[in-house]
Amino acid sequence: MNFVELEDPAIWSSIAAEQTRQAEGLEMIASENFTSPAVMQAVGSVLTNKYAEGYPGRRYYGGCEFVDTVEDLARDRARQLFGAEHVNVQPHSGSQANSAVYLAAIKPGDTVLAFDLAHGGHLTHGMRLNSSGILYRFVHYGVRQDDHLLDFDQIVRLAREHKPKLIVAGASAYPREIPHERFAEIANEVGAKLLVDMAHYAGLVAAGVHNSPVPYADFVTSTTHKTLRGPRGGIAMCRAEHAKDLDRAVFPGTQGGPLMHVVAGKAIAFAEAIKPDFKEYAEQVIANARALAQSLAAGGVKLVSGGTDNHLMLVDVTPLGLGGKLAEEALDRCGITCNKNMIPYDERKPVDPSGIRLGTPALTTRGMGADEMEQVAAWILQVLKSPEDSQVIESTRREVAELAEQYPVPAAKLDQVVTG
Ligand SMILES: Cc1ncc(COP(=O)(O)O)c(C=O)c1O
Repeated sequence: MNFVELEDPAIWSSIAAEQTRQAEGLEMIASENFTSPAVMQAVGSVLTNKYAEGYPGRRYYGGCEFVDTVEDLARDRARQLFGAEHVNVQPHSGSQANSAVYLAAIKPGDTVLAFDLAHGGHLTHGMRLNSSGILYRFVHYGVRQDDHLLDFDQIVRLAREHKPKLIVAGASAYPREIPHERFAEIANEVGAKLLVDMAHYAGLVAAGVHNSPVPYADFVTSTTHKTLRGPRGGIAMCRAEHAKDLDRAVFPGTQGGPLMHVVAGKAIAFAEAIKPDFKEYAEQVIANARALAQSLAAGGVKLVSGGTDNHLMLVDVTPLGLGGKLAEEALDRCGITCNKNMIPYDERKPVDPSGIRLGTPALTTRGMGADEMEQVAAWILQVLKSPEDSQVIESTRREVAELAEQYPVPAAKLDQVVTG
């Protein structure tokens, strides 16, 4: 029985259309992925009805015995997966996790050193309109102009000059591995705490194919829905000495009741990520990104930093005579979804920057490999070279849909269970 369709056809028509869009297109937004049917079922479960302010064994509501078990399992699995001393699985999102760490670690007005949004950072790392930028004094580091790698000379200089209380590492659009140990050395030297926001590459860390920030950082935050492949949400971890402060900062500091249906989805995703086949998945994500990057570079676009060693790449499309806005729109018309993105030292505006950001986590979840990446790169180049040619758009769209059909999205299985 499809209750949404029956009771609210207007909402169902959008859900059904989105389901088709996901199934027939190629999702290349680096921060998106497909959760397993088990995660989806947990997120759509009766746990959404339950209030559970507080923590297991210390709730402000009755009837929490079963959700306590769910949260305990989620915390234990996350601790096992990442080797963290303390984990809080309640943050509603990556942004909430970061807000909680700021509340736990520093005071309003304190200085924080973080990665510049224009070079690949995130808006919760001190963007002027975000609460982080409003409440704290952020100073930003960037990448070098010549090789687009993190500029550690600048990071050390700014850390010594500004004596931040907190240094933030982690990025939304950095195609290289982040050296956490180097950040920890600098934080130690200037007496700052270190927060690593591994939202983008948490799945790679979980699988052991990216170095882990956990041994080096006071606090580690993440989303659970990107490479980690769980439900939309956040997680915050810390050394045992900060555990009380962090828990207080999540609840009651920044949130009320946790979303227990989502916490259950997180627990399932953590268990999935502990299994050996998740390591294979993460290795394939990186292999696919390399294959895609190589084919694109061979076809005449420029890649920020010359390539990638994680799940994403930043493509400067201007050598082909167009900007990021038109590139995103033309690809979207073919069923290839990505986002326009600033590249470091971009001379164009954020509304129409020089680049697009592409990622392989979602296509890899569908089972695609290096051969498919070469094919996808060929389509991308073809479309970017003729973004306004309706015949090229039409024929590419058809080919994209044919490939997509061969690699069903995980939700297709759920659909069979629900409707079959
Ligand atoms: C590095 C980083 N941190 C935090 C976030 C915020 O996550 P959310 O959208 O769940 O608030 C993102 C999301 O893109 C991110 O890339």
